[in-house]
Formats: sequence, C-alpha cells, structure tokens
Amino acid sequence: MAQKVFGVDFGTGTIKIYRKKDGIIMNERNVIATVGKNENKHPVAMGDKAYEMFEKAPEGIHVNFPMKNGAVADMDDMINLWDFMTEKVSGTPKLKGSEFYIAVPADFSEVDKNAFKKVVTNGQGKPKAVKLIDKPICDAYGLGIDIDNSNGDLIVNIGADTTEISIVAQGGIIVTKLLPVGGNFFDMQILNYIRKNYNFVIGRRTAENLKKTLVSATNEDKPVKAYGRNILTGLPDEVTIHSTEIYPFISNVISDIAVQTKSIFEHTPPEITHSIKENGIYITGGSSWISGMDQFLANETMIKVNSTKHAQRTVITGLGEFVENPKKANKYALSLY
Ligand SMILES: Nc1ncnc2c1ncn2[C@@H]1O[C@H](COP(=O)(O)OP(=O)(O)OP(=O)(O)O)[C@@H](O)[C@H]1O
Ligand SMILES: [Mg+2]
Repeated sequence: MAQKVFGVDFGTGTIKIYRKKDGIIMNERNVIATVGKNENKHPVAMGDKAYEMFEKAPEGIHVNFPMKNGAVADMDDMINLWDFMTEKVSGTPKLKGSEFYIAVPADFSEVDKNAFKKVVTNGQGKPKAVKLIDKPICDAYGLGIDIDNSNGDLIVNIGADTTEISIVAQGGIIVTKLLPVGGNFFDMQILNYIRKNYNFVIGRRTAENLKKTLVSATNEDKPVKAYGRNILTGLPDEVTIHSTEIYPFISNVISDIAVQTKSIFEHTPPEITHSIKENGIYITGGSSWISGMDQFLANETMIKVNSTKHAQRTVITGLGEFVENPKKANKYALSLY
C-alpha cells in the first residue's frame, strides 16, 4: 500500500515533497498557469511546466507565483497548485487519510503559519492530520546538526525570496529572523539593469540563469553573454554583461545579510557564541551558492562558514526525518490555535 505520510517545504521558488519510505519525490517550481477568471478560472499547468510558460504564455493564460517572501500570497492559486501537485504524486487530488508535516518560517505570525495548514486542508484531499514544524529545526536536522545536544549552531538559509537567520541549541530555536530577500531580488536587479542600460529585454528565467555567473559576493570580473530583444530595433540580439556592472546593485543586500548575521550575536549568551565559533556558521538555501558568499560571510563575521552541496534540500531532508520518525516530529510540532 502506498505510504500516506508526507513532508512539504513550500519554498517561494520551489516546492519540495517527501513521501515516507520513498524520500524526496517532488521538486517543482512554485508556479501555476490558469485560464479564465473568478469562478471560471482553472489551472492548465503547474510547477516547472508553468514556469516554462512564464513570459511566453499565449494570451488568456495567466502565470502566477502564489507565494511571496515565504508566505502564501494568493490562497486560491496556492490551493489549486497544491491539488495539482497531489494529483501528480498520487494519481488523485483526493488524497484522503494522509498525514502532512509542513515546514514554516519560524519568524512568522500564527496566522501566516496556519495559512500553510489551510492550503492542505482546504484542497480536495482530506488529510487526517497536518503538523507544522519551524523551518530552522528542519534545516538543522537536514544539515546533520545534533540539535538536542547542540550548545549553539547558527544557520543562514538564503532562498528565493527569504533569508532566515537562526540560532538553534538544546533542542530548540534560541533566536530567529526572516529577511525578505533572496535570489529573486538578484534576478530582478539583473533584468532591470540590462533593460535600462542596454535597451535590452531579457526574461526572468534568463536573468536567473545569468545570475549564476553574474552575481558574486566579491567584486570579481566575469563576463557573460545575454540573449534577448533589442528594444530599439525590436529584433533578437545579444549583449555581453560583466559581473562588475551588476555588483553595485546587489552588494547592499549581500552586505546586509552579513550585518544581520553579525547582529544576531548581540543578544546571544557568550557560551552559545563560543559554540557557534567552534562549529562554524552553516549556510544553506539555493542562494547560498552565490559565488563567494561563504567566504564573504566568513570574512565579515570572522567565523568559518560551512556550505553544502545539498543547499536546496536541507529543509526537506530534515522534514523527511520527522516523516520517518513521528515521535521525533511530535516533539517539534507546533501547537497553534
Ligand atoms: N548556482 C546557483 N547560484 C546562485 N543562485 C542559485 C543557484 N542555484 C539556485 N539558485 C537560486 O536559489 C533560489 C532557490 O533556492 P531555494 O530552493 O532554497 O529557495 P526556496 O525554498 O524556494 O525559497 P524561500 O526559502 O526563500 O521561500 C533561487 O533564487 C535560485 O535562482
Ligand atoms: Mg526555502
């Protein structure tokens, strides 16, 4: 019989799903394409397919990102997307009797945390139970941190639309803050810069690809060719952009992540700070792969930084441990109203 216990990381950029005994079974863009309006609205594509349609969707098809800064921004589209996803993983959106563990940003209000529960309970599936667990706890498990015996570990998760900076120790979260910035900001800076300075239009997907070369935490000079449309001629064209041109537009945000990481120490007892210094800062989330980010943070904080090649999967991997061990999960499941 198919296992019916799932872990879900609703990332602003990508949704990751774990199924008991099967591991990570889905990693798809958090995007939905719909046609029609109001009661006639219905989805035509979701996930990676909908993302492919973004900026080249035919007239009448609306492509939407239902989350913003880590929170559910469009409940209806999010529920539609969720139904679409459950159908893809299980053959039916009516996933009765299932249990879900959902990772939520720790620095959210109860209302914003409960919005994720609503998505799953208000969809077509009628779950038996939905439990919410703070993301930094999942991250810690996914990074292999022994949180119950930890005297202090600092995790910086730089995602698509959020940066979550948290200290965990003795089985809990000591302090956490959520900054409303991540990789999407860099994509938009690249797109806007090229449009303004070269009269040249590129899509957001192109900007995201260019970012992997163009955005760097150090002001190194790396050129990359961008393909798009020249606004003046209206024709397809190419331009060469250097990372040094983009740097002035992104360096503030990169510096701010370091400043906010340093400031979290201000209210931290010395024994916890000592442990963090010994263990090093953990950076994770897809945008932790920004070139030179680890070294920049290490230089700014004067603490070594541990990066991971599983950066986009640490939250869902940690959730997976809870899915497999319900006793552990119960210890961390949030009891909200
Ligand atoms: N090699 C890379 N270099 C820089 N950025 C990258 C790289 N690979 C992926 N990214 C970026 O990582 C981000 C996605 O990371 P992740 O999956 O951790 O975010 P998310 O969980 O969807 O978002 P959030 O946690 O903010 O809600 C995107 O902005 C993506 O462009
Ligand atoms: Mg994330």
